[in-house]
Amino acid sequence: MAESLFVPKVANRQVIYEDIAPQIQALVEGETDLVANLANITAALREAFGFFWVGFYLKKENQLVLSAFQGSIACTRIDFDKGVCGHCYTTKQTVIVRDVEEFDGHIACSSLSKSEIVLPIFDKSGEVFGVLDVDSDKFADFDETDAKGLEKIMKIVEGIICPHTNTAKHR
Ligand code: SME
Repeated sequence: MAESLFVPKVANRQVIYEDIAPQIQALVEGETDLVANLANITAALREAFGFFWVGFYLKKENQLVLSAFQGSIACTRIDFDKGVCGHCYTTKQTVIVRDVEEFDGHIACSSLSKSEIVLPIFDKSGEVFGVLDVDSDKFADFDETDAKGLEKIMKIVEGIICPHTNTAKHR
């Protein structure tokens, strides 16, 4: 696997997403441990964009449970009907929140978080396996470019999960 990430020195996020997606694919190739792969993906996203917080919540029994992340400590369990993560889980759609204060039911893990984007990760049967949550300390920091770029990276995640064991699939 590649041991360093090449991030183009441009401000255009679309270019950065296009550049890092194949590197993230290469990063997870050959590694079967799911948490190791998810941890590296959060590190790569934070390194590439400087996001305030990047992490996965995975469905375990009846809740979303904190998994690999980069950033400050965060709430460990989220009910399916709570927060932006729960909204993403129940609607099965990417959710962009321009101002967290304006999202009814937003869960504030940090008062520094001002906007966020949450994307669903689907298993082979179309059920939500978990979500990716990305937080910014700036208002309105996420748009369709992030949704499209991160959705492509979630496709990579969907390629490495095993729905029944919460582990990476064996190759
Ligand atoms: N804000 C999220 C909770 C997770 S933290 O931001 C890391 C939510 O409302 O679901």
